Amino acid sequence: MTAGIGAYFWDVANDLPLDMTRPRAERLSQLIPSLRALLEGETSGGANLANAAAAVHSASGWHWVGFYLVDFEQDNLVLGPFQGPVACTRLFRGKGVCAAAWEQNRTQVVPNVHAFPGHVACSSASLSEVVLPVRNSLGEVVAVWDIDSAEADDFAPDDVAALEGLTSVISSMWDSWTWAG
Ligand code: SME
Repeated sequence: MTAGIGAYFWDVANDLPLDMTRPRAERLSQLIPSLRALLEGETSGGANLANAAAAVHSASGWHWVGFYLVDFEQDNLVLGPFQGPVACTRLFRGKGVCAAAWEQNRTQVVPNVHAFPGHVACSSASLSEVVLPVRNSLGEVVAVWDIDSAEADDFAPDDVAALEGLTSVISSMWDSWTWAG
């Protein structure tokens, strides 16, 4: 990490009530109540997903943090708010980690993306990833939260547990959100 990027990482994180000296999984756990407070009172789904992606990106430093939304008409996944490099716009059934999380309604933890059959490489820098389903009140998958790391095997069970907690915050609010356009 260069000094410049390092300074940016710290400045952004300082806007959240996080102790950046604590281990990453602990910071992500600390973020759960903060995320709830940040999203409460705002009903724009786009705004809330954008801030959720930014919060986890700045708390973690992971390479790509963002959402794909289920497009029920087209029966595929469309890119939503994210932080990180430009990404694939659409993802399709049966191809890749995001589609697996959507179709199986189950979190996917992939320590080595090159070993995952059909992995969709939006960025060659991503070496490991986790994808968590976001559910509405009926338990249907309405989006997936995709987090990619430039390090191999970078998602420990305590990271995933914290991310599940953060995803639950979003799932619990989903039905009350509105979407412009
Ligand atoms: N790797 C994902 C595609 C999305 S991007 O990496 C941002 C997948 O296999 O579904």
